[in-house]
Amino acid sequence: MLEPLERLKLAMAIYNQGDPKRLQHLLKVHSLARLLGQLEGLDGETLFLLETTALVHDIGARKAEALHGAAFRRYHEALGVQEVPSVLEPLGYTREQVERVQFIVGHHHQYGAIDSLAFQVLVEAVFMVNAYEKQLPLTAVANFRDRIFRTAEGRKLLNTMFGLKEKS
Ligand SMILES: [Fe+2]
Ligand SMILES: [Fe+2]
Repeated sequence: MLEPLERLKLAMAIYNQGDPKRLQHLLKVHSLARLLGQLEGLDGETLFLLETTALVHDIGARKAEALHGAAFRRYHEALGVQEVPSVLEPLGYTREQVERVQFIVGHHHQYGAIDSLAFQVLVEAVFMVNAYEKQLPLTAVANFRDRIFRTAEGRKLLNTMFGLKEKS
């Protein structure tokens, strides 16, 4: 019997059938979000919802590409909000849990909307993965860190991962 988050991983593998890049992206974001969430001391339910959000954060991208030819941020956020219940409800998530995940999915590229430590951690984990996948220059990584990162553990892990000095 799989644990709930493992069942969700499997559901997301099926959702992203034929698109291994997208699956591997969300698995990396999940792994880093879980690590940071634990380092930041999130409680069990908050960590569970953070991990869930990490696994589904780009769920709208596939439909955005099909409908609009591209997964631009606003498209995949909005379509993601619509898609979230179709994956979470069959797995037994409550309405309240689904709505919380939908809120973050719907705003995960809008840093002004960050309203909790878990949302902040998600944004930092997403950035760590995107910075590598998009091969951002180190100056851009440090710039984003100084503008958007808020957690001490996220900052430390980002610096470690990219070999950044604190004032670089
Ligand atoms: Fe993403
Ligand atoms: Fe995204």
